[in-house]
Amino acid sequence: MAKIISMINQKGGVGKTTSICSFSVALSLKGKSVLLVDLDPQANLSQSLGIDGSENNIYLALKGASEISPIKVINNLYIVPSSMDLNALEHEMNNEPGREFLLKELLEPVKDQYDFILIDCSPSIGLIALNALSACDTFIIPVLPHHLSIQGLSGLADVAKKIKSRINPKLKLEGVLITQFSHRKVLHRDVQIALKNHFKGRLYDSTIRENISLAEAPSTGMDIFRYAPNSNGAEDYLKLCEEFLSKQ
Ligand SMILES: Nc1ncnc2c1ncn2[C@@H]1O[C@H](COP(=O)(O)OP(=O)(O)O)[C@@H](O)[C@H]1O
Ligand SMILES: [Mg+2]
Repeated sequence: MAKIISMINQKGGVGKTTSICSFSVALSLKGKSVLLVDLDPQANLSQSLGIDGSENNIYLALKGASEISPIKVINNLYIVPSSMDLNALEHEMNNEPGREFLLKELLEPVKDQYDFILIDCSPSIGLIALNALSACDTFIIPVLPHHLSIQGLSGLADVAKKIKSRINPKLKLEGVLITQFSHRKVLHRDVQIALKNHFKGRLYDSTIRENISLAEAPSTGMDIFRYAPNSNGAEDYLKLCEEFLSKQ
């Protein structure tokens, strides 16, 4: 039975998509079978992996117009791509009873086939994010090492708390991941200490350094392990994957 994990932060540009892309490939290289669900209408995750979402996309499946039909990316890694149409879902599902559970219902029949299902969320807390948080067992929060960036986390914690008490009692924080980190910057180290004090063992010791290869890889349709296997980015996400697996 797969563990379902959402990558979530209502801020954009914090490394959700980069992390889910690189982390999922690292998991697949370790022999874990992984299903990705791209829940961001911008479809950055699908594009980063070179997958076109014109058919078999999550919008059609959530609308009930097609079954969930994952596309193979590489060995052990599959994706249900996104589509811009997903922007319309919130409006179209306005009167649908149980509309927070659409994704949970869709994933139920395929859960047995994977070790992990990872959900990439858009930077907002609307119906789509509610569906992600209702369907998942745990969530990972990527954050940038700035004070403003961590101030926004209390809003996210409040939403997660409400979802846990009202619709998904098993929901737990999997971990908090610092991205675009530089050891040399005092500010970054200060924020790391503040996060460690707040989240205790839930803050990953692994951090993701700023790395140009991570920013370049998406436009090639290759993941970091194919695009730049010796880069800091590949090294950091592999380390994160090992830390994550050691905590399961
Ligand atoms: N560790 C990193 N080093 C350098 N650039 C990064 C890193 N992580 C992400 N980026 C770049 O930052 C931008 C935002 O990252 P992205 O993963 O798309 O964030 P989100 O999905 O949270 O909006 C992208 O252009 C991405 O390529
Ligand atoms: Mg994204």
